[in-house]
Amino acid sequence: MASGILGKGANRLSSFLYYQAKPGFLNPINFMRVLNRRRSEKLIRQVDGGKLYGLINKTMEASPSTGCDYSDYWMIYSTLVRVRPKCVLECGSGVSSVVFAYYAASVAGSEHETQIISVEENLHYHESIIAIFPDELSSNITFMQRDRVEARYGTQQGCYYRDLPDLKFDFIFIDGPTDRRVWSDKSFPKCFNADFLNIVRKSDHPVSALLDQRIFTLRALRSLISGDRITYLPTRAMAFISGVTRRDLVEVEILELD
Ligand SMILES: C[S@@+](CC[C@H](N)C(=O)[O-])C[C@H]1O[C@@H](n2cnc3c(N)ncnc32)[C@H](O)[C@@H]1O
Repeated sequence: MASGILGKGANRLSSFLYYQAKPGFLNPINFMRVLNRRRSEKLIRQVDGGKLYGLINKTMEASPSTGCDYSDYWMIYSTLVRVRPKCVLECGSGVSSVVFAYYAASVAGSEHETQIISVEENLHYHESIIAIFPDELSSNITFMQRDRVEARYGTQQGCYYRDLPDLKFDFIFIDGPTDRRVWSDKSFPKCFNADFLNIVRKSDHPVSALLDQRIFTLRALRSLISGDRITYLPTRAMAFISGVTRRDLVEVEILELD
């Protein structure tokens, strides 16, 4: 009992100081994040003489969705260039989809050619991103609307997209679905994003991922993936998950709830 309370307290404190980098005016991690955002914006401006930067900004101005910032966009772009995935799943469509499609266009026809699927549960956001997406990139990405469903993984509750296509995903960007069934409504249980686990379970090759600032999911995945494959990057407010295979997954009973 006492250790449970202490554990919760330690989680809250580390969330506040380390993951949320608060209080902002005192916390050196927050200062590093500000510098990193500026540096990332500068680096994106340098891609193809500002072409990617222009496409991101144009889409951002028209987008109703809350989402990533320049630090995230640069992290996504530079990770794709480093990892060279062949089949990507983006969980949570939005302005970040421009970065994925831009990368796919840049490697089309080369040995690094890649397929991008972007999935979103909310029909409004799904239709919005299609409506404002740059025409010149639309053939480099496939947008899909899929319902958000829940399951239990051992003692933890997860959420994921129903009926994803049966493709050989080797890279996932985790920025959706929403952690609660109704966004921000605390009467619904908070769930971790389980698409990564579901895909690794069915995969016969290693799968990597970038996890946006979703600390609840970070903690759940750390408990459900053995070894040291998850690295949280505090100045980038993202985690990189490196080459996980079925053998790395902790065995738990899975109970579908929807
Ligand atoms: C945070 S958005 C990010 C989209 C995209 N990856 C980006 O950064 O451009 C992803 C998740 O949040 C939800 N969402 C997007 N905009 C929202 C908003 N304004 N209010 C509530 N939920 C939102 C979406 O349905 C999706 O589950």
